[in-house]
Amino acid sequence: MSTQAVAPAAGRSSISRFSTWASWAVIAGIALYFYLTTIPNYFHYDPAHYIYYWPKRWWLIAHVGGGTVALGLGPFQFSNTLRKRYVQAHRWMGRVYLTGILVGSIGGAYMGLMVSPLKAFGWSLEFLALAWFVTALMAFIAVKRRQFVLHREWMIRSYVVTFAFVLFRIGTRNHVFGSLGPEMSVVMLAWVVTAVPLLFTDVVLRWPRAHS
Ligand code: HEM
Repeated sequence: MSTQAVAPAAGRSSISRFSTWASWAVIAGIALYFYLTTIPNYFHYDPAHYIYYWPKRWWLIAHVGGGTVALGLGPFQFSNTLRKRYVQAHRWMGRVYLTGILVGSIGGAYMGLMVSPLKAFGWSLEFLALAWFVTALMAFIAVKRRQFVLHREWMIRSYVVTFAFVLFRIGTRNHVFGSLGPEMSVVMLAWVVTAVPLLFTDVVLRWPRAHS
């Protein structure tokens, strides 16, 4: 396998830099909203707040822990400055990010089958868990083979999938697809937050190659 270099960031216009920062600010804002509206509930360690998760709460806690690590560390992995100046930090944060996804996706897969009271919904999240695991695994395999362009692309897909549950919770809070009924709406939403962002990610990743 040939060694590929990441395209240099030098020469980027200030508009491009501004749009990168603006995009990350929007992503951070959405993630923060998700956190403030979802996670504090689980700081109350009792059955009333954990509801049907209570008997299997350690699966949820491991899942949320892994998801938090991945959600929080992911954006730093895309920093050119961090990667170039502090390569060891980039490597260690990458390992922790992948471990977070391993733990989070195993927890998610377990809950989808064993905890979720809505079976069709549980199954749709099963495939999200699979996408979460596989995109991270592909990023890991690519970096081990020193295919850095592929590694970056799979890391982007991996973070898009990590972010899917954030979009999902925001969707349920705002009753997106609510007219489909309580079960169908969450099944539909789970697929939409997985498939649509991944589709657009691939269009963006492939557009320059297809139109150069
Ligand atoms: C992207 C892949 C993910 C998958 C496949 C997944 C899967 C699941 C499943 C199956 C459940 C149980 C759903 C039910 O109640 O029936 C769940 C709940 C939950 N997950 Fe995830 N999850 C993912 C990402 C995340 C991330 C990144 C976080 C952030 C920390 C997270 C936080 C939670 C929380 C807090 C719950 C409890 C339900 C709630 O209060 O919203 N998940 N997840």
